[in-house]
Amino acid sequence: MNTNGKGFIIKPANGRLGVLLPGMGAVTSTFIAGVELMKKGLGKPVGSLTQLQTIRLGKRYEARNPLIKDFVPLARVEDLVFGGWDLFPDSMYDAALKAGVLTPDQIAPVKAELQAIKPWPAVFDQAYVKNLKPQQAKSGTRWEMAQQLMADIETFKKKNKLNRLVMIWCGSTEVSTEPSAAHQSVEALEKALKADSKDIPPSMVYAYAAIKMGIPYANGAPNLSADVPALVELAEETKTPIAGKDFKTGQTMMKTVIGPALKTRMLGLNGWYSTNILGNRDGEVLDDPGSFRSKEKTKTSVLDTILDAHLYPELYGKFAHKVRIDYYPPRGDAKEGWDNIDIFGWLGMTMQIKINFLCRDSILAAPIVLDLALFMDLAGRTGLKGIQEWLSFYFKSPQCRPDLKPEHDLFVQHMKLKNTLRVLMGEEVIDHSGLDYYEPTLGVPVQAPPPAPLKRAKTASPAAKPKRTVRARIAA
Ligand SMILES: NC(=O)c1ccc[n+]([C@@H]2O[C@H](COP(=O)([O-])OP(=O)(O)OC[C@H]3O[C@@H](n4cnc5c(N)ncnc54)[C@H](O)[C@@H]3O)[C@@H](O)[C@H]2O)c1
Repeated sequence: MNTNGKGFIIKPANGRLGVLLPGMGAVTSTFIAGVELMKKGLGKPVGSLTQLQTIRLGKRYEARNPLIKDFVPLARVEDLVFGGWDLFPDSMYDAALKAGVLTPDQIAPVKAELQAIKPWPAVFDQAYVKNLKPQQAKSGTRWEMAQQLMADIETFKKKNKLNRLVMIWCGSTEVSTEPSAAHQSVEALEKALKADSKDIPPSMVYAYAAIKMGIPYANGAPNLSADVPALVELAEETKTPIAGKDFKTGQTMMKTVIGPALKTRMLGLNGWYSTNILGNRDGEVLDDPGSFRSKEKTKTSVLDTILDAHLYPELYGKFAHKVRIDYYPPRGDAKEGWDNIDIFGWLGMTMQIKINFLCRDSILAAPIVLDLALFMDLAGRTGLKGIQEWLSFYFKSPQCRPDLKPEHDLFVQHMKLKNTLRVLMGEEVIDHSGLDYYEPTLGVPVQAPPPAPLKRAKTASPAAKPKRTVRARIAA
């Protein structure tokens, strides 16, 4: 037996989960259309860990590999209800047609469901997204608009008889901003909201409203949003999980696979040139240099952290790194990325790697939105509060404690995610050393014992307090 019975107490995923989506463009409409198709058995959740992936428990010879969704108590896809805000009043059906990611034939079976979802007016400030002209927006100070968001959420919750909510930012990339005095404490932030300070980007108003209400908040764009001391403090106070920033989908996902591979083999890097063309609304927004700067920051930071130039100055001390995104309308959502990687090996001999990724942005992002909605809800029911670093797997620029280095390596992030699930459920953490299969002195049986039955999640009444003592043993 390798369950130690020390898992966290997780409240059951009873009833309906409301998924709040600020920004209802290409990613959101593709995500909702996919989930509605899945509810009817007409679509496959390809790309989603929560729906398709298994998790190994215990020793390899035990052959215990349940689906993640059977192992941890996640909300069911059938119980998801969607609401959100946008600058444009288009229903999710019209937004999906405009985005052109899915064909009219593909979404025809869920046309009625998509037409019924219409965005509420947005909190917007043109200074933060220069290239879009809003057709519906709230008015008042930022403080008043935060109250309006909370009222929208309450109405949505009542109308749909929702048990819980999560919020995932799928809105545009805002102009790059640095944290200022207004972002340093809850008190300063609330004062700035009341003074309608321009230092508060719209995405931060949504984040404030969600976290104030105890609604888990994840940020799919590079915006500052909840990545400031004030909102980390508020998340601790209201016991709310937060995570960000910027979905890791195409080129950066590849970068966080190839970068660690080079370092693992001690191959040197002279330069990495990345360029993209895309023609969707996201591309139009990123055509503004201020918004592009936000994206550039999250896209370039990954290599510096992965390669640890300070530890390996001869291999990674001087590499050139360039990232470009060009708005090219004919491509729509079908982004094309090129990477040219100049590397060197034995005796300094140079080599090159070329990657040409013809991807579909929203097709890669939609399963991430689903996983984040379900995992952030799980975090909320488990009593995990503040920054959820175990969800770094999904982000280009993982939010973490300021004194820590973010983890960018995709496979380390993946291990972190799965080991967190094992810890939550009282299963042994897997360290992959494998030594104990060969060294009986380590006190573990070398021969396979009969397989152990899968231990299910412990659930508790909503009043129960989460148990914090976890003593997971190591399974190699
Ligand atoms: N698709 C991907 O692979 C991917 C990867 C990483 C990050 N992202 C980010 O996800 C976000 C969504 O991408 P998309 O392709 O759906 O873009 P999109 O332009 O199609 O949709 C974004 C929507 O947000 C709306 N919006 C802007 N400001 C708003 C506000 N203040 N309140 C409410 N709505 C607002 C816009 O009107 C637009 O409809 C972007 O920030 C993008 O950079 C996408």
